[in-house]
Amino acid sequence: PIIHREDYRPPDWLVPDIALDFRLDPGKTLVSARLKVVRNGDHAEPLRLDGEGLKLIEVKRDGVALESGVWRLEDDRLVVPIDADEAEISTLVEIEPEKNSQLMGLYASGGILCTQCEAQGFRRITFFPDRPDVLSRYSVLMEADQASYPVLLANGDCIESGEGVEGRHWARWEDPWPKPCYLFALVAGDLAANRDSFVTMSGKTVDLAIWVREADIPKTGHAMAALKDSMAWDERVYGREYDLSQFNIVAVSDFNFGAMENKSLNIFNSRYILADAETATDMDFDAIAGVVAHEYFHNWSGNRVTCRDWFQLSLKEGFTVFRDQSFSADQGSAAVARIGDVRTLRAAQFPEDAGPLAHPVRPESYIEISNFYTATVYNKGAELIRMMHTILGEEGFRKGSDLYFERHDGEAATCEAFVQAMEDATGADLAQFRLWYAQSGTPKVTAKLAHDAGAARAVLTLEQTMPPTPGQSEKQPMAIPLKTALLGKESGTPLARERLVMLTEARQDVVFDDVAETPILSINRNFTAPVVMDAEKDPATLAFLSAHDDDPFARYEAMQQLMVETIIDAVSGRAADHAPVIEAVRKTLADADLDKAFVAEAVLLPSESFVGDQMLIVDPEAIHQAREALRRDLGSRLEADWRAAYAASSGNAFEYSPAAKALRRLRTVALGYIAASGADDAAKLAFGQFESADNMTDRQGALGVLANGGAPERVAALDIFYNRYRDEALVLDKWFTVQAFATRDDTAAAVEELAQHPDFTIENPNRLRALVGAFGANQRAFHLASGRGYAFLADYILKADAINPQTAARLLPPLGRWRRFDEGRGTMMRAELERILAAPGLSKDVYEQASKSLA
Ligand code: ARG
Ligand code: ZN
Repeated sequence: PIIHREDYRPPDWLVPDIALDFRLDPGKTLVSARLKVVRNGDHAEPLRLDGEGLKLIEVKRDGVALESGVWRLEDDRLVVPIDADEAEISTLVEIEPEKNSQLMGLYASGGILCTQCEAQGFRRITFFPDRPDVLSRYSVLMEADQASYPVLLANGDCIESGEGVEGRHWARWEDPWPKPCYLFALVAGDLAANRDSFVTMSGKTVDLAIWVREADIPKTGHAMAALKDSMAWDERVYGREYDLSQFNIVAVSDFNFGAMENKSLNIFNSRYILADAETATDMDFDAIAGVVAHEYFHNWSGNRVTCRDWFQLSLKEGFTVFRDQSFSADQGSAAVARIGDVRTLRAAQFPEDAGPLAHPVRPESYIEISNFYTATVYNKGAELIRMMHTILGEEGFRKGSDLYFERHDGEAATCEAFVQAMEDATGADLAQFRLWYAQSGTPKVTAKLAHDAGAARAVLTLEQTMPPTPGQSEKQPMAIPLKTALLGKESGTPLARERLVMLTEARQDVVFDDVAETPILSINRNFTAPVVMDAEKDPATLAFLSAHDDDPFARYEAMQQLMVETIIDAVSGRAADHAPVIEAVRKTLADADLDKAFVAEAVLLPSESFVGDQMLIVDPEAIHQAREALRRDLGSRLEADWRAAYAASSGNAFEYSPAAKALRRLRTVALGYIAASGADDAAKLAFGQFESADNMTDRQGALGVLANGGAPERVAALDIFYNRYRDEALVLDKWFTVQAFATRDDTAAAVEELAQHPDFTIENPNRLRALVGAFGANQRAFHLASGRGYAFLADYILKADAINPQTAARLLPPLGRWRRFDEGRGTMMRAELERILAAPGLSKDVYEQASKSLA
């Protein structure tokens, strides 16, 4: 069945209080639930409780056991008639955590019992109105074998605990804050804690703990520091204080997503907690800080103010991603952070917006809500919040967020309520801006600048178009904020103050006065709007901007565009002139005033898939060849510069600081170009870095360079890496990924072989993504003309679907891109989608993605 946003109705019954009692056992857990239910409004509907895969043992109404004729099961729902306006309904059910391979509800991971309830996992634990607009106070009693599960955690505060009979023990937890059931959590396991504390702005002490396996305690320091930084940041930037006396984080190895913001008991995929220099890269460290902040920030943007229904998911996710991006930008170079945000958006969201799975930030319908935890809801959603921040300014935006939190504290709200608060707090008119929530697809903006030297006037003509997307053929013009500046063509300096141009019409002229010097346009600076910009710049202008633009993002952008156009020229059979790119890279490398972190990002070539996204019909092989030719040329023509950059960034002992990270990044980028040059000693240099590294960033960087090549050092390094880290699951994931990402001719074959490796398993989502997910993102290897990549992916989607539909469905999007490939590839991709759809017992998760991809 398809669920529509328009069909929203308030719940028939509310549940102000719930008492849960868990007899925990991995094989068979008993869950008894006592719900206080209150009729909501004037109606005669019975109570309907969601349930999935529960073995129902008993139902009571006001303490009296009910005959099975009184209640009934309707599909998966338990229906109980109630005459009064209030009642106490109790159920007793049995569940089997160790058989739960979907990792939704209560499941076992490496001997730990834990929960994941968002979006609809709570119904796999007990019968309940499983929707986010039913908020309850929870009291939880958990009881388990003490030896296997010495630690018992749930939301809120532990108010009582004790020992039972036969080696069992128990704990009672109470959470004073009403919450929707998707924020419920419990954990039972043999865990050790890294403990610390934080004093809030009003002087309250919060006890912090990060719970992991004993052996992993040394890897929790970075996450703890990030947690404390996040707590202080949210007080400083948003005035938001933590509201309980405990905050617990638990890391588990089997997790469908990154992490989960359960009230005061965040549960994390261990890859977003565990780090030390030996096993985690700088990127891992950054991602950990970002995810720890993200989940912590949800305490206000998500928990204190939650979502009315799942169509409003971006209310909490878009806002919280914006908050975590702002936090990360404050930790180091803001420009480099922004480059990273935009890279992610372009790699994951733009293709989504341009393909068969396109949907608005606030979707209109779904079959399976898990399929809507997307880059559109998260990352484009964050861009919407960022645009409001840009339009209203720092101060106006803060007034709006204060009003939003004050007005909706304790409520389940809508995206509309957020925008309304921004308007009410500032007097701004965001009527047209709201279209960003409703219209899918990436706007395309063209910009033309005309200059009248005599009148000292420049006129910027902007035009916007919106491509049709599934279900939306006609679109209205959007409100697009574009930070814009003019630079002097001779002087290279800004000619006028940077302006925020609001493009609101389909076509619009913007006049700049007092422009005597010939101007060059710098537009969508810092990527103020998530659009595709076409400013019709020639290579000379792009090269100019890459050297002179005073906005670092725009400077990066000019360089990228120059690179993309150079590669596309070659792919399209036009004579590709590499000289402007080589010159721009040389200048950037030589510019001593530039932050090294910025330099390392700016000199990198755009990915093969990004180049593909710019073409109507993607030719993966030609893109690969053209990009490699440019890389080779950059490598050899600038070999001395790369060697100098390499030497200058080598020889430092490991330190985790923005400056040290920048040098490590530049070091491996330079190594990659030295290898691309074909220099005889390149493999030896890479192997040296691989062996002598005192940190994973340098080691994995060198391994990546070797893995792309064919030197004998390649096999040696892969073997050494495997043997050294075979017992470190998160590092072994890297070993799989580095091979799945390799740009070699035999990558598809190598991936098929790796799928037979004893350490490969489809049951652990991280491992599945490390190999199969990474392979789907390797454009050339996945789109091998024989079609073997497609068959491989389809095989593994089907295998995974039988175990874990959510994670299986997330592997599918690369197959849905068939319209963008030639007839031969397109036909094979469609055939695989049809094969998936024809498979018996397909989950609705995979069904939705595959059927929409073919439509
Ligand atoms: N709310 C979590 C986060 O973004 C993600 C939960 C995703 N779970 C799911 N079943 N889709 O932090
Ligand atoms: Zn989130």
